Amino acid sequence: MSRTVYVNGEYLPEGEAKISIFDRGFVMADGVYEVVSVLDGKLIDFPGHQARLNRSLDALEIGQPLSDEDYLAMFRELVTRNQIGDGLIYLQVTRGNPGDRDFAYPPKDTPQTVVAFTQAKPGLAENPAAQTGWKIVTLPDQRWGRRDIKTVQLLYPSMAKMAAKAQGADDAWLVEDGKVTEGTSNNAYIVKGNTIVTRELSHDILHGITRAAVLRLAREAQLQIEERGFTPEEASAADEAFVTSASAFVMPVVSIDGAEIGDGKPGKIAARLREIYLDEMRKTAL
Ligand code: PDD
Repeated sequence: MSRTVYVNGEYLPEGEAKISIFDRGFVMADGVYEVVSVLDGKLIDFPGHQARLNRSLDALEIGQPLSDEDYLAMFRELVTRNQIGDGLIYLQVTRGNPGDRDFAYPPKDTPQTVVAFTQAKPGLAENPAAQTGWKIVTLPDQRWGRRDIKTVQLLYPSMAKMAAKAQGADDAWLVEDGKVTEGTSNNAYIVKGNTIVTRELSHDILHGITRAAVLRLAREAQLQIEERGFTPEEASAADEAFVTSASAFVMPVVSIDGAEIGDGKPGKIAARLREIYLDEMRKTAL
């Protein structure tokens, strides 16, 4: 079945969707995006993703092409038209098409480009990887300095993912000044006793929407949280580790640079947080 995708107000078969070669997203990576998961046909933590999209657009002065209600209606329409039970919605907003290439931004009244599409992922929440956990390797963080803005400049994360796979791992944790920033497309955590350690919010990492929910639920479950950087050595000596993202939810990490974490199996706290998170998110899904 051909997907129906959204392009600037229209719902089109994916083969008919067109974007200009001059689009700022294409020539300058001048755009932002969001990934929202769908479980049982409902959007997970839509308000969180909506708020971060607005923050990313404001930070780059791209402007707001649609209202919050427009996005919600459009996402629901895409879910319905593509009969998505479990899956993802990808949304991208760029500074639009100036009609030529120029480093200077186009005039403020240039319409933004808004595209969105669905990815069907049957059984997304029952991912078998959650039973075995991910293997992680560390790599230098060579991204730009505003990682809190969710831009489409994903070449370095993509290179890091490939380098991790080449080493037989599932993902990379990026390291700057000796401390882990985050994963290629997820936030990183270690657990020691009853304490969860994850890097504090700043320009150095993406402010994960899953991170915010998981930390809130962890506090409610009487776990201690320390928001600070940690070294790869501290991670290899931890009892457990995990990552969070809209597509992986809470995913246990079982080794780092070839060294087993804890007993080399997914940890109890990660498993519990995954369960609590999914329960809570299903209840509040829109
Ligand atoms: N990535 N850090 C980075 C660098 C990310 O790209 C992501 C999300 C996260 C987790 O954020 P959230 O919990 O809001 O999904 C952290 C998405 C899933 C992606 O690029 O596909």
